Amino acid sequence: MNVTLSALPFNRIEADALVVPVFEDDFQLPASLESAVAWLNTLKETSEFSGKSGELAVLHAPSGVQAKRLVAAGAGKLAKFDPRTLAGSVVRSLKSKGVKTIAFALASPVPAHVEAAVEGALLGNWESEKHKSKSEVKFLDSFAVGAWGDFAEALNRGKILGESQNFTRDLVNEPANLLAPLHLAEQAKTMAAEAGLECEVLDQDRMKQLGMGSLLGVAQGSAEPPVLIVIRYKPVKSPVSADHLGLVGKGVTFDTGGVSIKPSEGMEKMKYDMAGGAAVLGAMRAIAHLEPAIPVTAFIPAVENMVGSKAQRPGDIVTSYSGKTIEVLNTDAEGRLILADAITYAKKQGCTHLVDAATLTGAIVVALGTINVGAFTNNDAMLGRVLAAAKEEGEKMWHMPCEDEYRDLIKSPFADLANIGPRGGGSISAAWFIREFVEDTPWVHLDIAGTAWLDDNKPYMPKGPTGVAVRTFVRLAQDWK
Ligand code: BES
Ligand code: MN
Ligand code: ZN
Repeated sequence: MNVTLSALPFNRIEADALVVPVFEDDFQLPASLESAVAWLNTLKETSEFSGKSGELAVLHAPSGVQAKRLVAAGAGKLAKFDPRTLAGSVVRSLKSKGVKTIAFALASPVPAHVEAAVEGALLGNWESEKHKSKSEVKFLDSFAVGAWGDFAEALNRGKILGESQNFTRDLVNEPANLLAPLHLAEQAKTMAAEAGLECEVLDQDRMKQLGMGSLLGVAQGSAEPPVLIVIRYKPVKSPVSADHLGLVGKGVTFDTGGVSIKPSEGMEKMKYDMAGGAAVLGAMRAIAHLEPAIPVTAFIPAVENMVGSKAQRPGDIVTSYSGKTIEVLNTDAEGRLILADAITYAKKQGCTHLVDAATLTGAIVVALGTINVGAFTNNDAMLGRVLAAAKEEGEKMWHMPCEDEYRDLIKSPFADLANIGPRGGGSISAAWFIREFVEDTPWVHLDIAGTAWLDDNKPYMPKGPTGVAVRTFVRLAQDWK
């Protein structure tokens, strides 16, 4: 989709639809659209449109306006204006009616709103129809932000972030037969080459040499070999930060649960168990273009968790790359096992700060539902950075506990650690398991099991992958001080 800026007066912009946000508590049209004021007031009098979010009113062939349609888009309360969601909803609604070009009018534009509108439009134009032989989905061709001022940079950032988040969603949406670990590595290499990043893929033999027994134990039940994907971004413009950010993403291309097998109902969803890894890849794509001052390295352990004659058994004891031994009480708690070795590797690579994203536990869905990401930390200052970035980017995250008292949940009588705790506090014991490998490095763990996949259509997004965490990662790197 083509994304542009237009500095013309709104009534002179040509488009299939000129969309104007109208607020509940600021119910008016910009001056250049005064010819439509009577229309808007009638809508209000007849209670057809009052500016509540979700409302749309369409006027065809508006007089005094170049666009083919004038669309009043309910924008809710002025103080809560969310141009990302509004643009996404409007694009989804209008594209289904055959609209090909939209101009989105911002009467008092600020860079953050221009950027968010562009992101929302790109996100709203994404569909998961790729594998239909005859797709009936209609797409938008172009989206222009009507805004007078210097917004080229905001437009560019919005475009990069929207496209990168969609790149993540495409990866997450791929079924596991078409996206095994080696394929994910190929996608990572292609992306890195296009973006000008360095990409290294550690194969099974290399990981055996290094002694990554925790990761390899998960992979051994599958015919698909595992990989550890490493992508490096090094800033060229000085000053370069002395810190080094590591982004670690769970890349389980399919999670059957292994011998501790999952129920068949809903198992098809487990193709999204690499959403953390895909979010890290999308973030690296954006980071390459936006060039933050801090070095950022991505680590994506990618495996398939299968059942088979060589599969790991409950009770197996493996030795991780860190040297710590782990009793595998449940082969379905595999995410933490692969993250453990990736995190040790990240530390050895010199990362001073770590953030991981993982579809780690069903328990986080019980705790937070599908609205908030669960955020765990060993360092409040680091958590503050991540939550600030998330807030800026409109990604909801909630601080979950990871206090010392919970450490005992993952004790084992036979090894240094057990890979599961009791039922209660399941997402906290999972976080603590990861923390055992992070040790004292400032770290935040994002459990995205509830937020990486939408089970139902939303006005601004269809059922399927959301691309959550991409924007937070990028903002975190860009705002690093
Ligand atoms: N990938 C799952 C977590 C998950 C569950 C993601 C539901 C999305 C939706 C993870 O590997 C897993 O199976 N976790 C187990 C851990 C348990 C065995 C301690 C879980 O949450 O049930
Ligand atoms: Mn699992
Ligand atoms: Zn899993």
